[in-house]
Amino acid sequence: MRQSSPSRIFWSTLLLSCPAAAFHAPLLPRQFLPETFDWSAITPTPELQYHPCYNNTFQCARLRVPLDWSRPETAETGPHAALGIITLPATVPVTDPAYGGPLLINPGGPAGPVAEWVRVYGSWLQGVVDTPGERHHDIVGIDPRGLWRTTPPAVCYADQFGRAAAAMAVKRMPSVLTPQGLRMVTAWNQGVSRLCEEAAAADGEDSIFNHMSTASVARDFLEVVERSHEMMMKAGKGKGKRAGGGGGEKPMLQYLGLSYGSILGSTFASMFPDRVGRMVVDGIADAEDFNSGQRAMNIIDAEDAIDVFYNICFDAGELCPLYQTTDASAADIRARIDAFIHSLEETPVSAIFNNRVFLISPNFIRSELHKGMYTPIPQFPTIASSLAAALAGNFTPILSNPALVNNDNEGAVCADLPDTSPPTVFVSQAEANLGISCGDSQAAAGPRDTLAWAEATVARIANQSASLGETWANLPLNCAGWRFSPPYAFRGPFGSPAPPPANSSSSAAPMLILSSRIDHVTPLVNAYRLSSLHGGSAVVVQESLGHLALTSSVSKCTRGFVKEYLRTGALPKNGTVCEADCVPGIPFRECVGLPP
Ligand SMILES: *[C@@H]1O[C@H](CO)[C@@H](O)[C@H](O)[C@H]1NC(C)=O
Ligand SMILES: *[C@@H]1O[C@H](CO)[C@@H](O)[C@H](O)[C@H]1NC(C)=O
Ligand SMILES: *[C@@H]1O[C@H](CO)[C@@H](O)[C@H](O)[C@H]1NC(C)=O
Ligand SMILES: *[C@@H]1O[C@H](CO)[C@@H](O)[C@H](O)[C@H]1NC(C)=O
Repeated sequence: MRQSSPSRIFWSTLLLSCPAAAFHAPLLPRQFLPETFDWSAITPTPELQYHPCYNNTFQCARLRVPLDWSRPETAETGPHAALGIITLPATVPVTDPAYGGPLLINPGGPAGPVAEWVRVYGSWLQGVVDTPGERHHDIVGIDPRGLWRTTPPAVCYADQFGRAAAAMAVKRMPSVLTPQGLRMVTAWNQGVSRLCEEAAAADGEDSIFNHMSTASVARDFLEVVERSHEMMMKAGKGKGKRAGGGGGEKPMLQYLGLSYGSILGSTFASMFPDRVGRMVVDGIADAEDFNSGQRAMNIIDAEDAIDVFYNICFDAGELCPLYQTTDASAADIRARIDAFIHSLEETPVSAIFNNRVFLISPNFIRSELHKGMYTPIPQFPTIASSLAAALAGNFTPILSNPALVNNDNEGAVCADLPDTSPPTVFVSQAEANLGISCGDSQAAAGPRDTLAWAEATVARIANQSASLGETWANLPLNCAGWRFSPPYAFRGPFGSPAPPPANSSSSAAPMLILSSRIDHVTPLVNAYRLSSLHGGSAVVVQESLGHLALTSSVSKCTRGFVKEYLRTGALPKNGTVCEADCVPGIPFRECVGLPP
């Protein structure tokens, strides 16, 4: 953190000040790359116009779309949004028969930095989805409404200082599992909602907070699909169905959605069932649950995931720093850590790191476990050694692991002072997370103003996981007092019929659904449920631990199905099980092919 360039500091600060993160986008780039492209130099256009960017490795565009899709008549003259798009071109020319057209992605969030993700992981993803010599995709990242390179931004705070100070205050709140803590957090969240209303008041109906539903993002996707097709046709490079559309068929979406991206995928498929060409979703979040505002279908497998960690440690014996020779089972190791966490309830301690004071609360330690469970292969050895150090009173290893501490833990928020001259088109994901998740759920949840609502919300989640209940319960509580309810919304029912069988003049295929066997934030049961709603779809269960099949481990089997599906539209049998080629180990075991 210390030697950061100014632009990196800016990005990091934005990322860190995000108490409202929803699924904690699984693949937040560990480091944001320096901003070297001047987005304000692009004038948004209603046609898709790409400009070389980032060392000419990428193509960037700002696509003009109506702000309010429920009033398409405003497209020409009304208020608009400009979608920030970064595309990593396919590794073959568009004239090559192996050119597979654009693959739109959403790596999660809901307010994850999608365009930036393409800069960091686009090339890795091409390795996962492309079939050399047979099918090569453009990887297209579009920042959802309200955030990052898509304008207008969703902003509640006057500046980064206000945002960082608020995030700091949130860190000081007591646990929502206590009656007093729940009251304080609810009152605070109501204040944030009010602040957003005040900030939006000047824009009236045209506030971005009224127009950033998942449904609007799905409609934006359709626009990108159509404008991409149009661009190819104009350039005389019409590739028929591969680039979307041909033989009289409308242009079709090709999409890969991770985590929250599966909600976006299900929303798109439900709204525009005849426009799905290919759709791969991985790490399934339940769209109905998300739209209800409950978030009660996420952490139900979390304790199982944590048990696997302790089992691996026990099996490693003395190679695991948490193991003691008197341990008769993994439960003994776990009991020691649990007792330590409980002791922090009675006696919180402080630690000094980098000239700052950090409060080591029970939730601080639990957050470490939570973070580590996303990517067990790299993180299990680190968790084991840093927890062992913590038990011995040394918190430096935890505090110095950015993957574990930087996102939302104590003190990290203000670790770097905000950049004073941020590019105006960028904005924190904190408010965008609120805008999307609270807006999507506003209609079903109704007024979220009462203590009874807050109590019921926590009660549904808290007992699902002793380790993660507190952290997760905070997510739905963030919507306390929210009032924006976007007119362009999708309220279900979710689902789509099976497309007609693929043939030479059809490019539609049912959804391919992936899941890790044990995923602490998007449990396997959600994948089955999603499949039951979308006709002809199939679930592939990967025998891995961690969030998402494609990033928790490497599996030739899973990736083979993904490649074949994108190439031909063929799905494996529903319920197919794929082995993972790597498993987490203590000590660390190398796994070639994980994201960089
Ligand atoms: C940009 O491209 C040049 C020439 O190909 C290369 O030497 C340089 O490392 C690249 N810079 C970045 C940031 O990728
Ligand atoms: C949590 O509480 C709810 C409602 O009180 C109950 O239905 C559910 O079975 C409980 N879950 C667990 C894991 O104890
Ligand atoms: C091929 O698929 C298209 C689109 O679904 C359908 O209209 C057409 O009848 C199909 N053709 C054959 C030969 O099955
Ligand atoms: C796939 O299998 C799951 C689990 O058995 C089931 O719930 C779902 O309905 C199946 N999907 C389809 C499309 O039949």
